[in-house]
Amino acid sequence: MKNTAYQSASEIVLFGAVGDLSRRKLIPALYQLEQVGLLNPDSRIVAVARQDLDLVSFTEFVVENLNEFISETIEPKVLERFKSRLVFQQLDFKDTDSYVNLAETLKGGHETRIYYFSTPPAIYGDITDGLNAAGLITDNDRVVMEKPIGHCLESSKVINDQVSRYFKENQIYRIDHYLGKETVLNLLVLRFANSLFTNNWDRDSIDHVQITVAESVGIEGRWGFYDEAGQMRDMIQNHLLQILSLLAMEPPADLSADSIRAEKLKAVKALAPITRQNIAEKTVRGQYADGFLNGKAVPGYLNEEGANKSSNTETFVAIKAEINNWRWKGVPFYLRTGKRMPAKHSEIVVHFKQQPHNIFKDSYAELPSNKLTIRLQPDEGVELQMMNKIPGIASQMNIQENTLDLSFSEAYENQRVVDAYERLMLEVVNGNQSLFVSRDEVEAAWTWADSIIDAWQSTNDKPKPYAAGSWGPVSSISLIARDDRQWVE
Ligand code: BG6
Repeated sequence: MKNTAYQSASEIVLFGAVGDLSRRKLIPALYQLEQVGLLNPDSRIVAVARQDLDLVSFTEFVVENLNEFISETIEPKVLERFKSRLVFQQLDFKDTDSYVNLAETLKGGHETRIYYFSTPPAIYGDITDGLNAAGLITDNDRVVMEKPIGHCLESSKVINDQVSRYFKENQIYRIDHYLGKETVLNLLVLRFANSLFTNNWDRDSIDHVQITVAESVGIEGRWGFYDEAGQMRDMIQNHLLQILSLLAMEPPADLSADSIRAEKLKAVKALAPITRQNIAEKTVRGQYADGFLNGKAVPGYLNEEGANKSSNTETFVAIKAEINNWRWKGVPFYLRTGKRMPAKHSEIVVHFKQQPHNIFKDSYAELPSNKLTIRLQPDEGVELQMMNKIPGIASQMNIQENTLDLSFSEAYENQRVVDAYERLMLEVVNGNQSLFVSRDEVEAAWTWADSIIDAWQSTNDKPKPYAAGSWGPVSSISLIARDDRQWVE
């Protein structure tokens, strides 16, 4: 990826600057870029919010959150530099007339602007209308949109249409923060810089793939928002499908946005539809019930603060996804993601096919297959399980399964794991769209996800309960066991 510090200056205009994402991720990410000298000295950070704050109180808010969310020591000099970039503008996002105030604030600043929408997507249209009315959009500007883009295919089209009235596709950066994660990016390197994998990455060599994204957190203070979405819209439609498409896509011609996005799109489009006819066999949806996590009792989804006791929203999903193309026909991709699982733990396990014939029967009745494990988080790394001879003089050949383990924290000891938002923010500044999702990809992902959501709705089945602190409903074990396979725990 390009890393051209000071390549261009821009105003970074953060809508929703005092919101949760901003304080946890965006402000810390910008600070880290400041720390390593990657923010152009002429770039200002213009915080826009509904709240009636002044610059002094916004700056206090920034410092408080940097202290909370940055684990390294905050250097006073860097902090002063960072603070001097801050500008605050109160705005009623829905009041088009009030955008003249923002225009006034932006006057005299840099001409290229990055508008970062960290607000509910339903008001992206209002914001673009306001910016347009105040003459604040030019061909140089970029807009960054947070997920979820819509609630379904139709609503995503409405939002995309609203924004693209004033911004062209090459100005729109749709964030899926998983694409900024070190280990997700490393998938490109693993697959296309190692002939060992490049040449064995298909239905002839691979038996199946498992993708698990487990979180131990529950819903914590955002019950209403989450309940509208559920795990399918919140995680599968975006993060898991992005991982899947990077794993399954054909080799792109180069690292350009056009090449990568075109290949990812083809992979998502080739997903076999899941409909009412096969929904029970291909999917499991669950909802966490009261349980224990790290020895502490935790409430179930319906007993969380602010919960509607009759909600049928899923907090866990498992899916057997299949890709109908030449490379993958017959290779299942098992996806699994949930809240309140035993640990935060995300990984991909690629199960290669078993040897067709075993000449080591005397010491190993059934040879296990090779497995490539990509640990996405935490403890980022790559593992390869393979068979090895146990050293010794015994007449029979004793063999066992061993692991080649590349742990990033050991291999790159002094290297800080960069937060996804730091990288993505820099890519927007540098005008590189390859780590952002195209409109076509969003729509293809919704088309596949909508069919599953519609099928669930049509059956009227409730999500299966699972105890908080467990690996999901028992039926998710059956989903994979029916194929004579099991989840890697
Ligand atoms: C967000 C989802 O996109 O990703 C959250 O809305 C989820 O529900 C989060 O917790 C997980 O991100 P990460 O980076 O912690 O794996």
